[in-house]
Amino acid sequence: MTAQSTLNPAAIPIDFNAIKELTAQEAKAVDRLILDQLSSDVLLINQVGHYIVNNGGKRLRPMLLLLSAKALCEIDKNHLILAAVVEFIHTATLLHDDVVDESALRRGQETANAVWGNSASVLVGDYLYSSAFEMMVRTDNMRVMEILSKTTTAIAEGEVLQLLNCNNPETTEAKYLEVISRKTAILFSAATRLAAVISGADQETEDNLACYGQHLGIAFQLIDDALDYKATQEELGKNLGDDLAEGKPTLPLIYAIENGTADEAEIIVNAIKNGNRDVFSEVYAVVKKTQAITYTEQRANEEAQKAVASLDKLPESVYKTALIALARFSVQRSY
Ligand code: IPE
Ligand code: IPE
Ligand code: MG
Ligand code: MG
Repeated sequence: MTAQSTLNPAAIPIDFNAIKELTAQEAKAVDRLILDQLSSDVLLINQVGHYIVNNGGKRLRPMLLLLSAKALCEIDKNHLILAAVVEFIHTATLLHDDVVDESALRRGQETANAVWGNSASVLVGDYLYSSAFEMMVRTDNMRVMEILSKTTTAIAEGEVLQLLNCNNPETTEAKYLEVISRKTAILFSAATRLAAVISGADQETEDNLACYGQHLGIAFQLIDDALDYKATQEELGKNLGDDLAEGKPTLPLIYAIENGTADEAEIIVNAIKNGNRDVFSEVYAVVKKTQAITYTEQRANEEAQKAVASLDKLPESVYKTALIALARFSVQRSY
């Protein structure tokens, strides 16, 4: 094991804005591509599209793609297109996800489904998916198309698997990991893999960057699921307890069932079966007492460390350091 692979992400300072600054120029060009692609003569597409795209997402997936690419080579038009593509796919999944999860708040604003209704959100989500594919074709690269089509299929599988787990208190940690690896991590992994592919990197570099994205994505979703219980709504920009309201067996609940007393486990089992936000404080008390959030954060930290270890062979650069810092951000974040 080299010194690099033992590097603890906690040792690297994070300043999210400083990291963002490293791709600020490219991000502007990506935003222009996104805005161009949103200009449909169908008014509702314009309205909903601009509403969701312009309201302050972290733009993490394009950032990962651009930083990975800059760690390898100069940025060209195809990198920018693919950065826009991954953000479009992400945004499409959010439009659909908020309908399925019946969420009312995202990025500190009412969700599109709360403003325009479920039908508009689903249909504009479909528009964003198709738009992403239209943009992707412009790279004229079969590997790129293969990666992205496999990615969107896996995301859909993850969301459907999750639906099947809802209200099922017997969901195991392994089943939960299968869901988050598909619904979330695969897109992170596609972003970093695509950076390698479109930069003409060798297979080993491609696999290592994909591995980084996959572990980072798992860490990111583990923390998202912890934040659904422990964040503040103002910072997170989403309502707490959305997962509970849906009876979603996320890791904080799975761990609390396994590690609580019989009475405590029963509180959680019933909450999952009934999917009811009203029992949030009771459930949170058990989650806290069993240290289920701490466990979830530890698991996220392990994943972030694996992500960092995957970068071992990447040449040293400020971009590599930023990728390491993003692994830490994904675990330490409060939004
Ligand atoms: C939210 O992703 C969905 C998850 C995979 C947890 P982000 O937290 O990256 O969402 P935005 O784009 O910054 O709002
Ligand atoms: C992530 O899961 C959703 C997708 C990957 C589409 P969540 O349902 O937890 O995401 P948020 O919390 O609504 O952002
Ligand atoms: Mg959701
Ligand atoms: Mg969530």
